[in-house]
Amino acid sequence: MTNVAVMKLSPALLLALAALAQTSVAAERGTESARIDRVLTATPLIDGHNDLPWQLRDLFKNDLSKVDFAKDTSKLPVPEGATQAQVDLGAKVFAGEVGGATCAGCHGTGGIGTPVGPDLTTGKWLWGDGSLKSITDTITNGVPEPKQHPGAMPPMGGVELSKEDVSAVSAYVWALGHQASAK
Ligand code: HEC
Repeated sequence: MTNVAVMKLSPALLLALAALAQTSVAAERGTESARIDRVLTATPLIDGHNDLPWQLRDLFKNDLSKVDFAKDTSKLPVPEGATQAQVDLGAKVFAGEVGGATCAGCHGTGGIGTPVGPDLTTGKWLWGDGSLKSITDTITNGVPEPKQHPGAMPPMGGVELSKEDVSAVSAYVWALGHQASAK
């Protein structure tokens, strides 16, 4: 018998519950938007978008195996017109992990120099004025007649680097040479 009573009651009960639920949702929405208005008036919206995923996608062509988050280039300065992500990619190009050039083979790990390639971290330049453009030119053209070293530097270190890789490795070399002055 209780079953019958419940079945008789339930449509009315359900309606009542539904009505109740609706009013409380509406009330909640009301206070929520009032709260949003209040917060936005007091605190201007700060654009917190993060374009790192986009840059990774752009620079590494979506191949995340090329990204090495363990390599900390975040302390390096970034030249005007370039990005942190380019400096990061440049470090990998320099080390021969991307693009196949062996810059580090002649210039040493981290660009500290070897007998066959100059130190790139001193802030002094044998070629050009140390601007991003002059560094890019040297890397693109190589150094056929070195001033202080026995053998020539082949253009792009002897391989065909993509435009992106040349820009990236140039930004990295710029950063190596300017880290002292940026401190
Ligand atoms: C075969 C050895 C060799 C390789 C590989 C090589 N370099 Fe060099 N690099 C040199 C030599 C030699 C010079 C000229 C030094 C001199 O004039 O005495 C030079 C000069 C430079 C300079 C100019 C430095 C200055 O003081 O003005 C930059 C920048 C540079 N290299 C970057 C790179 C990058 C980036 C790569 C890789 C893409 C690379 N090099 C690959 C040997 C090499």
